[in-house]
This record gives sequence, structure tokens and C-alpha cells, in this order.
Amino acid sequence: MVTHVIRRNRRWNNTCASLYYEMRGRLALRRGGPGAFADRWWYYSVELTKGAVTHGQYEDDLPFLPRMMLRRCDFADATCLDLGTMEAMIPVLLCRGGAARVLAVDYGPHCWEKMQAVKAAYGVRFDYKNVGAMDGLYQKIRGGFDFINCSGLLYHVWSPLHVLAGVRPLLRRNGLMIVSTNVILRDGMYAEFNAAGRMQVEANTFWYPTLDLLEYQLHYLRLQPIDAMVVFHEMLSSKIRYQFDAPSGSLCVLCRATDEAAADPWMRRSVAQSWEYQNFTDWVRADRQPVSTIAAESTTPIELTAKELASRQVEGSVSEHDAHVLHLADRS
Ligand SMILES: C[S@@+](CC[C@H](N)C(=O)[O-])C[C@H]1O[C@@H](n2cnc3c(N)ncnc32)[C@H](O)[C@@H]1O
Repeated sequence: MVTHVIRRNRRWNNTCASLYYEMRGRLALRRGGPGAFADRWWYYSVELTKGAVTHGQYEDDLPFLPRMMLRRCDFADATCLDLGTMEAMIPVLLCRGGAARVLAVDYGPHCWEKMQAVKAAYGVRFDYKNVGAMDGLYQKIRGGFDFINCSGLLYHVWSPLHVLAGVRPLLRRNGLMIVSTNVILRDGMYAEFNAAGRMQVEANTFWYPTLDLLEYQLHYLRLQPIDAMVVFHEMLSSKIRYQFDAPSGSLCVLCRATDEAAADPWMRRSVAQSWEYQNFTDWVRADRQPVSTIAAESTTPIELTAKELASRQVEGSVSEHDAHVLHLADRS
């Protein structure tokens, strides 16, 4: 009862905060244009007015793998969903890539004002929704999407599998999904926990899975990897501490939705019988989604092995065009 009331209030608080931020944002935009937002805290580095770029939290040469992966997909007329959107850099790129509709979601309205400035500066239209915790998204979002981006989110949640399972029914059959997160580059079916901040100082970072575990969970949720990129953390030079006592990296996987789990006998039984598989997702809805025709450069399944990834490595330092830096002229 008490948690119910707290949750309802949190949603109500988010709604009130959104309205407040919307009005405040509109006012600031009318008074000073997008440039009026330049002195706020920014996650991305964004050119708001010609030549004036905000100071994001990453170095300008740090690879942003999902951005690079977006270039390998064709978004013409696609419906797209971006999870944990911050200041909506991905939605801008999706709009500019020709997407028909983009929905950006985040926990709360903490970036909503800045998003209004970004929309105005880049002349793009997308929808935004506060969704609170990212589990059970199929109960919070209507419809279906040709493309879903889930980047930079899974290491921030207690249960990455709940988040993936909850969003999976929103993906159209044969649709594409980017899953990008930090991984442990060691053999084995396990995840490491950020106990005492050993992996990252951030208080809301929890799990890094091994490649094997992530791949197995993707198959379990009927997501077939077809493309991937990785950057080894030891190659990064950053003020943020990425390295710890196990070899780790940032992995970005492009997956194609499949109609059946690529299964071993245990997976088949778990899919058919486990309460979790029935309760924390909605396979009836997933199976009722229309078939998507969204295209990607890669059309064949890949395996997320260390050997496979060796050829898919990205350098630790890249041009701004591949980083968390958005310029007014950028199309991708
Ligand atoms: C590291 S940023 C990644 C932003 C963007 N998706 C990207 O790849 O650049 C994490 C995003 O997830 C959201 N987020 C973090 N922890 C969350 C949680 N526990 N529940 C819901 N959203 C969360 C943040 O608000 C933010 O938008």
C-alpha cells in the first residue's frame, strides 16, 4: 500500500516537474534561443548555436559506439524508441536519418528543458515520455517499433534481464535493437557486481556481464546478434576511470528480432515453463507485432566471441564525428 502511494506520487511528481520544466524551457527558449541553455550541465557536447558547443561529460575523442552503429541501419520511415535518452542526441540522429516517428523516454524530466533547446536548434520533432524505472516498459508504452536503442542503460539497473524482457514486446517482428553496455572480457557465464565502486565510482552502476552471458540472454529473449563493435577499456584515455581488476570493454550489439529462441534443451524448457518468462514480458504482444522491413548493412548472425570481436574493435580515440559530440550540420 505504502509503496503504491509512493510510486503514484513519484509519477505525479514527475508529471508536475515535466510541466514546470516545459514552461520554464519554453520561456528560456523564447527569451534567448537554444544558446540560453549553454551554461547548464550537459551529458553530450552539443552545438546549440553556430560555433558554440556545450561541454559534455566525455572527452571529444571518446568513441560513442551506438552512434557509429546507427550508420549501419536504414531508418527511412522507421518508428524508433530510444531508452534513457538524456539530451536526445540519438533521437536527433534518428530523425535526421529519416525516421517517421521517434519516441524518447527517460526515468524523469531531468533533461526535458535541454531537449527543447536541442529540438529547436536541430529543427527535429520527436516525442518524449517519462517512464520511471525501465522495467515493464511494455506496460508503459503503446504500439510497436522497428528500432529500439538500449544503450548506456543496462549497467545502471539492478536487473538488466528485466529491462530487456520488458521492452522486448515493443519490438516489431524482424525489427532491430541496439544493446550497448559494459562487459567483462573473460570466458564464463557470469556478471561482475560493482561492489564498493570497484568497476566505476558512479553510485548507480551495478552489473557488467561476460560476453557469453549477454549473448545467452539475448538469444533467450529472441534477439539474434547480427553486428557488433567493441572498445577495450584499457585503450581509453579518460578522466573517468574505466579500468578495474578484470578486463572490460564497451560493447555495442545490433540484434534482429526472431520468432523463436535459438534454444538448447534447458532454454526450451525455461521458455515454455518458467514463471519469469511468462510474467515479466508479454510474448503474445511480441508475436502480434507487425513484421518490420527495417534494413541493416549486416544480414547474417554473428557470435559474440572474443575471436569475433577482435576484428570488430574500435580505436580508443576517434574523431568527433564518432564521439558524444553533436554538430548542427551532422546528419549521422
Ligand atoms: C549513461 S546515460 C546513457 C544515455 C544514452 N542512452 C546513451 O547511450 O548515450 C544513462 C541513461 O539512463 C537513464 N537511467 C540511468 N539509470 C536509470 C535507472 N535506474 N532507471 C531508469 N533510467 C535510468 C539516465 O537518466 C540516462 O538517460
